[in-house]
Amino acid sequence: MKRHRIAVLPGDGIGKDVTEATMIALEKLGLDADYRYGDVGWDFWCREGNPLPERTIQLLKETEVCLFGAITSKTADEAVQELDPSLRGKGLKYSSPIVRLRQLFDLYVNLRPCKAFQGNPLNYRDGIDIVIFRENTEGMYAGVEFRPLPSEVRKVLEAHHPAMKRFSSAKDEEIAVSLRLMTRKGCYRILKAAFEYAKKIGRKRVTLVEKANVLRETGGLMIQEARNLAQTYPEITFDVANVDAMAMWLVKNPEHYDVLVAENLFGDIISDLAAQLVGGLGFSASGNIGDHYAIFEPTHGSAPKHAGLGKANPIAMLNAAVMMLEWLGEGERALALEKAIKEVVAGGKVRTYDMGGASTTMEMSQAVAARIR
Ligand code: NAI
Ligand code: MG
Repeated sequence: MKRHRIAVLPGDGIGKDVTEATMIALEKLGLDADYRYGDVGWDFWCREGNPLPERTIQLLKETEVCLFGAITSKTADEAVQELDPSLRGKGLKYSSPIVRLRQLFDLYVNLRPCKAFQGNPLNYRDGIDIVIFRENTEGMYAGVEFRPLPSEVRKVLEAHHPAMKRFSSAKDEEIAVSLRLMTRKGCYRILKAAFEYAKKIGRKRVTLVEKANVLRETGGLMIQEARNLAQTYPEITFDVANVDAMAMWLVKNPEHYDVLVAENLFGDIISDLAAQLVGGLGFSASGNIGDHYAIFEPTHGSAPKHAGLGKANPIAMLNAAVMMLEWLGEGERALALEKAIKEVVAGGKVRTYDMGGASTTMEMSQAVAARIR
């Protein structure tokens, strides 16, 4: 196999700590890779007025995949205050690097495995093994929003939908609209990714999480696409659940669920719920995956209060590395790393603070590396 080209963006705060720790395990796996470090995050916003410099985007274009730590983001006011004085007054606006990267590289799948490792004291219950496919580019996070509602837009809405009558007494400037925008292509490709994954991994069931009894048009489109597609996967059971009911079922019977697929906002919420069932932020990782590129990251942020203290649990980032290895076609190494993580968790001797122990970030990743054979 040819040498891999991997972009590594540690970012801010504990993003740096968990990246450094994860590299120890990757070294031990003997992966033939060229790791290329790039700049991203708050420091680059403050110094250069851009948290995602052009050179970093170029770096990603020259690599196959990216391992992303975590970044700090702050309010618009703080962003202006912390900007280098020479850059103020130039109309620079902070925008989230990870959101920009998802759009730039069309990373439409947000993949979130939520697996309970045996012996993890943080498990809500053992036997949970859910994989969530969250649509990553449209839906409620399409970014089409208005406040105030422009009067031309309002007129068009009033002309086309009787439900607008109920809001006729509200002034334009007192209405906010966020559009849940879904396309057939967007629905199809996230559903296709979920079904294909289920087929490849031998999963038995795909559940679409929606709310089509209320959001009839967008939810209806998603369900229609799903039903059509499900017919081409007769070996997989397909069903639909309402998102609110799903929140209850996931707490009641999480071990009954297999592959879940959802629109952006619903997927965001459901995947945080599911992540907490299997250890929370110290364990949860995600992949942002497109047809030609992918970025793997822990779900957590930069946790500024723990930055540089060597306390953060690196397992979330190690799980991101497992996903990256699978994506690169390095299935054996992915399994070896996952097995080592499982052994350390089950062993119960090395535990970071979130697991009730006192081990450091490095001790945890060294323990994992030591079990890689
Ligand atoms: P956070 O995820 O950074 O931390 C919340 C709390 O969770 C921490 O204080 C810590 O107690 C715990 N925690 C997080 N990761 C942990 C780990 N690996 N091991 C053990 N405990 C862990 O969320 P918070 O505090 O809301 O945000 C901090 C900064 O991170 C903000 O600037 C936020 O915008 C940013 N953020 C960035 C994300 C990203 O880079 N994708 C995602 C979420 C937040
Ligand atoms: Mg989230």
